[in-house]
Amino acid sequence: MENILIAVENRIATITINRPSKLNALNKATIAELSQAIDDVENNQKVRVVILTGSGEKAFVAGADISEFADFSPEQGKELARLGQESLFDKVENCSKPIIAAVNGFALGGGLELAMAAHFRIASDNARVGLPEVSLGVIPGYGGTQRLPQLIGKGRAMEMIMTAGMIDAATAHSYGLVNHVVTSEELIPTCEKIAGKIMKNSPVAIGAAIDAVNAGYVDGINGYQTEIDCFGASFGTDDFKEGTTAFLEKRKAQF
Ligand code: COA
Repeated sequence: MENILIAVENRIATITINRPSKLNALNKATIAELSQAIDDVENNQKVRVVILTGSGEKAFVAGADISEFADFSPEQGKELARLGQESLFDKVENCSKPIIAAVNGFALGGGLELAMAAHFRIASDNARVGLPEVSLGVIPGYGGTQRLPQLIGKGRAMEMIMTAGMIDAATAHSYGLVNHVVTSEELIPTCEKIAGKIMKNSPVAIGAAIDAVNAGYVDGINGYQTEIDCFGASFGTDDFKEGTTAFLEKRKAQF
C-alpha cells in the first residue's frame, strides 16, 4: 500500500491515510487501498476494532483529490461518486467490525464523508470539519447529503452544505457529529480506550447490531424487522451461550 498504513496491535487495526503533503486528500489510489484495507480487517480474525485516522497533525482528510476530477464530464463525475460510494463509503458503514474515525484535523468534503461513514467519530480539539463542495460548483458525492442530515438533522446539514463553511470541534460536538473532543495527544489513546470497552462484548452481536442500526436508514427495509431477525439469530450463536452462561456463573464472558 502506497497511501495508507495499517498496524494491528492488541486486536485493534489502525488504518492511517498517509498523504500528508496533500493533507491526505483521497485520490483514486487511496480509495482503492482503503477499500482493500477494509476487506482485510473484515477478514482478519485478529482484528476486533478499527481506528481510521490521518497522518500528520493538520488533517484527517482534506477531501477528494480535486486535481483528479477538475476536468471530468458529467458521466465521469457520476461514475466517480458511484464507484467511491460502492467500493469504500458503504463498505465502511457496513463493516461488521466497529470503525471509529479519529478526526485529527481537517475533515473536509470526502474526508468528512469518510468520517461519517465510520460508526462513530472522536475529534481532536484542532479538528475543523465541513462540506465545501458547493464552493467548487459540485455537491457532496460520497454520501454527505444523506449522512450529514441523519447525524445532525436537516436544518443544520442544509446550513453546513449551503454555506460550505467549516465548524470547529466544539461545534461538531454540540451538533452530535463527533462523540468526544480531546487533545491531539489524547486522540488515539481515547479511541483505544473505547475500543477496549467494545472488545469486552460479543463481536458477533456487535456485527448484528451494526446491521440492525444501518437497516433503519435503507429505503425499503424495515429496521424493526431486521432487528427481530438479528435478535433471533443471536440465540443460535456460541457468543450468546457464552454470554448468558457467564452471567449465570457470575464470571466475565470470554468472547
Ligand atoms: N485535493 C487535492 N489537493 C489538496 C486538497 C484536495 N482536496 N486539499 C489540500 N490539498 C493540497 C494542496 O493543493 C497543497 O498541495 P501543494 O503543496 O502541492 O500546493 C497541500 O495539500 C497543502 O494544502 P494547502 O492548501 O497549502 O494548506 P492550507 O493550510 O493553506 O489550507 C485547507 C488547508 C484544508 C483549508 C485547504 O487545503 C483546502 O481548502 N483544501 C480543499 C478542501 C476542499 O475543498 N475539499 C473538498 C474537495 S471535494
